[in-house]
Amino acid sequence: MAFIVGPAVRGDNFWDRDDEVEEIWEQLDNNTHILISAPRRVGKTSIMYKVFDEPKENYIPIYINTESADNENEFWQKLFNHLEEEEFIDSIKSTSKTFLEKIKNIKIKKVSLSGVEFGDGKLLNYKDAFIRLIKDLDSSHKIVIMIDEFAQTIENIIKYEGEKSALSLLKTHHEIRQDLKLSEKTLFIYTGSIGLESVVKRISGSKHINDLGNIKVPPLTKDEAKDFIKKICDLNYFNLEESHIDFLIEKIEWLIPFYIQLILQETKKLCKKNPTINESLIEEAIERSIEHRNYFDSWQIKLREGLENEAYLFAKEVLNYTSNNIKIEKKEISNLADKHKIENDESKEIIHSLEYDGYITYIEQERSYRFNSPILRMWWSKNVAN
Ligand SMILES: Nc1ncnc2c1ncn2[C@@H]1O[C@H](COP(=O)(O)OP(=O)(O)OP(=O)(O)O)[C@@H](O)[C@H]1O
Ligand SMILES: [Mg+2]
Repeated sequence: MAFIVGPAVRGDNFWDRDDEVEEIWEQLDNNTHILISAPRRVGKTSIMYKVFDEPKENYIPIYINTESADNENEFWQKLFNHLEEEEFIDSIKSTSKTFLEKIKNIKIKKVSLSGVEFGDGKLLNYKDAFIRLIKDLDSSHKIVIMIDEFAQTIENIIKYEGEKSALSLLKTHHEIRQDLKLSEKTLFIYTGSIGLESVVKRISGSKHINDLGNIKVPPLTKDEAKDFIKKICDLNYFNLEESHIDFLIEKIEWLIPFYIQLILQETKKLCKKNPTINESLIEEAIERSIEHRNYFDSWQIKLREGLENEAYLFAKEVLNYTSNNIKIEKKEISNLADKHKIENDESKEIIHSLEYDGYITYIEQERSYRFNSPILRMWWSKNVAN
């Protein structure tokens, strides 16, 4: 297991997420379509790749990231084209026949910007062409279509084509999932680095996703994190004493593999100059970790992209306050909402989406919100708030 900080991990670099992967297969076996929900950087794409790389018998997983689609047609076009891609055909050659061989009567004559002309002369738009492909599949295998960055796609469509089109895409997906004939052959898994629930709620489309089986990806437990740290240290030839592992765990607090990898990588770099590991060296490694702007920038960028001007300024100020004061009470939130002329309902919704997307979490005992991750809090305080 090498240090991998940023891209999704695969193969030997994937650290055990057995529970989540098992749950995915169980739900698929039950014909349930899935929404994998977890805040940014928790490891969703890596889990999808695990499903893709090691499918159960009789399943053919397809992985597609639709983030660059800005309108409804483009979404279907991407999906359709992906089904035809060389890479995909190659990947299933080993399991059985090629994808096109699985399609019984279908011949594609011409593919253009607006749609697809089939051998029988039928000209269909990409959505209908996709549905036709699926309908004509031989049913000995189930196709699992994993759509990464689906929430971002919906957000793009809202922005560039309008709410109506975004709702129409959600509705079509819902209809495909409800269609028994199509559902027999195709299952969908959706995920994304922003919460689908909050994006969809904003356009009153929750009813179109309430049939999805929700799989949550939690951070690692302390024991899991300990094992993960030990494994990475072993494989990268450096040693951390038990007390230092405990210290690191206490500092990271929100134990996602990403922060663990990032900080261990920095610790190892520092060890080259100073082989004695102590708490202050670990603290310095944390300081250095948050200097990697590119690992954290997206937290601010996605917020700016997802919210209108004043709503963004309000959300940013809530996070600035929280990063400087460790916590924020509801009363302070309502003061900031007044300042930005944000209505009570809208302010509640924005705070809700900050929770969904993993920025903050409500601590019942303190009756206030805190950053989910102290590492992100440190980064935000240093780079955005001050
Ligand atoms: N199972 C795992 N084993 C080892 N490292 C992991 C694992 N899952 C995630 N990571 C670490 O987290 C990083 C991000 O993983 P991944 O891209 O899968 O997360 P994500 O939830 O899809 O992120 P985003 O929300 O930005 O799309 C990886 O580069 C790696 O450092
Ligand atoms: Mg991802």
